[in-house]
Amino acid sequence: MKPLLGFFDSGVGGLTVLKRVLERHGRVRCVYLGDTARVPYGNRAPAEIRLIAAEVVAWLRAQGVTTVVMACNTTNALARDVAEGQAGCPVIGLIGAAAAMVKTRRVGVLATPATVNSGAYRASIEALKPGSVVLEQSCPAFVPLIETGDLCSDDLRRAATDYLAPLLAASVDSIVLGCTHYPLLVPLLRQLLPESVQLIDPAIGVAHQLDAVLGPPCAPVADCLQLDACCFNVTADPDGFASRATPWLGERPVVMHQLLRRPDQDH
Ligand code: DGL
Repeated sequence: MKPLLGFFDSGVGGLTVLKRVLERHGRVRCVYLGDTARVPYGNRAPAEIRLIAAEVVAWLRAQGVTTVVMACNTTNALARDVAEGQAGCPVIGLIGAAAAMVKTRRVGVLATPATVNSGAYRASIEALKPGSVVLEQSCPAFVPLIETGDLCSDDLRRAATDYLAPLLAASVDSIVLGCTHYPLLVPLLRQLLPESVQLIDPAIGVAHQLDAVLGPPCAPVADCLQLDACCFNVTADPDGFASRATPWLGERPVVMHQLLRRPDQDH
């Protein structure tokens, strides 16, 4: 059976993971679900995040996916067990992949409030790299601002300056982008950070982990992404999503609108 990957996130963030996977593996059959009706996830209570994870993974399962990629750190931090229970197939997450990519001892993590409150990144990095100093910074304003589509706004710059200040004061030497929306901010973050600070995108680790499912990486056949086997879905505003996705994907995707049902409403 040919693999069919199921990606999910609250919005455009998961596209940063999808892009890394397509860059490494070329044409990949996948279903993407952006739960734009409920973005942001990261400002919600854990119980609600777990319910949402059950719904979105049940929907992906109904599409026949053979591997679920949790392209969302918040659900990865709070509901990985829920996703595994619901998926009926292997589930790949970001947090373990990120911890394996950390090479320095003073580590900052930028993430949503829910991810930071869960302590999942700290636990995962400390387990793999004992003796590390891990500083987690909650960034509640980032996702709502990124989802407006304006990545150059003054509000974003101000928020980024505020969120980076404690990490810079603590002299971190690497920063994990602990929310899949944040790679969209790399140009801005690079302007605000010394060159010596490494940015870690967990999606790169996920793309490597998928070698086990998709086979070894393939040489790029073109300088654009191969999107023809990707099916994009959102729970609200497909046109807005398509517009926001275009600069990142390099072409305007066709996006379908979906209504999700709770798993216990299926019968
Ligand atoms: N991009 C997701 C994450 O990685 C969700 C962010 C949100 O909706 O708050 O955490």
